[in-house]
Amino acid sequence: MALISSRISRAVNIEDLCELARRRLPRIVFNYIDGGAEAEWTLRENRRAFDAVTFRPSQAIAVPTCDLRTRVLGTDLSMPLLLAPVGYLRVMHPGGEIAAARAASKAGVGMILSTVSGHRLEDVKTASTGQVWYQLYLTGGRAAAENAMRRAIDVGYTVLVITIDSTVIGHRERESRDGMEQFLRGNLWSKIPFVSDILTHPRWLARFLLDGGLPDMPNIVTPERGVLRVRDAHTAMKRQAFSWSDMPWIRALWKGPIVIKGVLTAEDARRSLDHGAAAVVVSNHGGRQLDGVPASLQVLPEVVEEVKDRAEVLMDSGIRRGSDIVKAICLGARAVLCGRSYAYGLAAAGEPGVTRSIEMLRNDLERCLKLLGCPSVNALTRSYVSVAPHR
Ligand code: GLV
Repeated sequence: MALISSRISRAVNIEDLCELARRRLPRIVFNYIDGGAEAEWTLRENRRAFDAVTFRPSQAIAVPTCDLRTRVLGTDLSMPLLLAPVGYLRVMHPGGEIAAARAASKAGVGMILSTVSGHRLEDVKTASTGQVWYQLYLTGGRAAAENAMRRAIDVGYTVLVITIDSTVIGHRERESRDGMEQFLRGNLWSKIPFVSDILTHPRWLARFLLDGGLPDMPNIVTPERGVLRVRDAHTAMKRQAFSWSDMPWIRALWKGPIVIKGVLTAEDARRSLDHGAAAVVVSNHGGRQLDGVPASLQVLPEVVEEVKDRAEVLMDSGIRRGSDIVKAICLGARAVLCGRSYAYGLAAAGEPGVTRSIEMLRNDLERCLKLLGCPSVNALTRSYVSVAPHR
């Protein structure tokens, strides 16, 4: 334990946490977090877009204290960060979504629970001392979605996030090569190809077995089949996805704010607002869905321009540093979501690893503001950055 915490405290950036996760996890699990779709062009574009933005600091302006606080859809945050919905966190570490929710609420950042969670949404809410938002897939059909929404409302989830970029699951070639579907679905015999990968990670294996192996999906419950078994999850996700025609039905059930996640064009931003969205997330799902779409950061200004002040605009995909958060805010985002950054931390060390990833982003963010001569995240404007033309 002491060894793990010293490794975590010696990690200086998210890439170090990624490296720790790579060492701690079987390849198949690591690649689930780390990989993107097809040629991973969009995955790389997400980083390239941040590299194309440079800073225009106001030098020699002392900023002894920085105000990092913001408010997103009525949720007060200690910094403009929410933990993105990430599936199968419990496979990375038994603490899973509960550890993430605990770390997020202690740090005062947001947490969005994925439908594809191995922990019950009620338990995740109880673990958090703050607000938690629920991300909805229609996996399992409308009955399963209604069950999840009603339960989420009952225990106090405040905001519903609908992911619109997943009419089918992107082709993640690393996952196909590793045999992810077989790993999730097959019987004991079908696990034989994974034995050497798994046995070389005994600490992960011990935790995984003590936690009961692959978790089922307790937030996807249908009247006919009950809780969705993990072996059926991939097929169920392929079968049922959100389309705009579901929106009136969802809005009749969910009276709180609704966020549309996966917007990449002004047209979809407009459609989201027309359907009553209180916020949109400019997102390409971390490069995991349609390969060939642009970086989220690149299309953020187009969406901001369309939405103006009619809704809040968030963004995700590619955030690795506090300076990335600054760039996104300068280009019009109110806050960002990060997924892989905290998933690496979780895989490396459970809740302390998630805490460390948030701390890294917070320290970077504060230092970046001070070096820019800007006292507050709310004072960031386009004038602090310059964007190189796209090649
Ligand atoms: C689920 O949302 C995934 O990207 O795997």
